[in-house]
Amino acid sequence: MNKILSLAPLAGVTTLPVREFFSQHRADMTHTEMISCAGLVRDNAKTFEMLKTSEFEKPLVIQLFAPDEKILVSGALKVKNSCGNFFAFGINMACPMPKITKNFCRAALLKRPEIAFNMVKELKKLNFPVWVKIRKLEKENETLNFIEILAAAGADNICVHGRTAAQRYEGSADKKILEISAKNFPGLISASGDVKTIEDIDEYFSYGCVCVMLARGAIANPFLFEEYRGINRNSEEKIEILINFAYRAKELAGEHKALIAMKRFAGAVLKFSHGSADKRNQACMSTSLEEFIKILSG
Ligand SMILES: Cc1cc2nc3c(=O)[nH]c(=O)nc-3n(C[C@H](O)[C@H](O)[C@H](O)COP(=O)(O)O)c2cc1C
Repeated sequence: MNKILSLAPLAGVTTLPVREFFSQHRADMTHTEMISCAGLVRDNAKTFEMLKTSEFEKPLVIQLFAPDEKILVSGALKVKNSCGNFFAFGINMACPMPKITKNFCRAALLKRPEIAFNMVKELKKLNFPVWVKIRKLEKENETLNFIEILAAAGADNICVHGRTAAQRYEGSADKKILEISAKNFPGLISASGDVKTIEDIDEYFSYGCVCVMLARGAIANPFLFEEYRGINRNSEEKIEILINFAYRAKELAGEHKALIAMKRFAGAVLKFSHGSADKRNQACMSTSLEEFIKILSG
């Protein structure tokens, strides 16, 4: 597969209805939010909820996090036995939030290369592609060395987010590190960071990245995937599509989650309507989906 446009993993955002929406609007691939292997191992019902998929989804990466290979593989086996419709496992080695990294998960793994290696190597034994998501490290050669370790362990794809863990989500993403990584590891690198426009997507592909992941750019403009493929819709069409999404989200996930998803898209949605900042505020305060839709269509 070449030039894949994927929805990035986004905790609290890439739920089933949102992934289905993007699958139907030209994402080539999507990711779940990060899923706790410890939660799966403990048979936590809320964690299992996150494994629900729909027949209308495009290839799906189930992104997992764990502190070591033992918990990772135990969690992945639960996924394998209860979730039929996915294409690859993902491993989160990128999330920088201290509450989480203190348990040695996610970005903390960037400092534990031997554990990271074992995680990929052991997960590969389940016979699914393994996609790993990391952050850039402080120095260029540290990033390249870490990618090399993951590649040697058998990772099928490595997504580099061009911000260090210390940067969290601040400042600009370093696109140069993606250019260097893609040049050194042809066919292996996905790009993440500051993907907001068609030009940003093209830039990453021009470096030789096989996949570009849309994150906050897709929330700000849910039609960016389509626009990249040359589909340009007018405001009325966009609003109609988003209202249909609201009803479908309710069907799949219930009123409360549908309203949350709509509120996440609120900025983008209202940008297309004849509204003002007032209208956006009203929509964000609404307590029911019907109320939100009424404001949107008004
Ligand atoms: C609300 C939010 C939730 C995120 N959740 C995850 C996650 O679950 N797993 C992950 O690997 N990255 C996660 N990320 C990081 C994004 O996938 C992406 O790498 C990052 O936002 C950089 O891209 P951007 O600058 O285009 O937004 C999250 C980012 C945001 C803003």
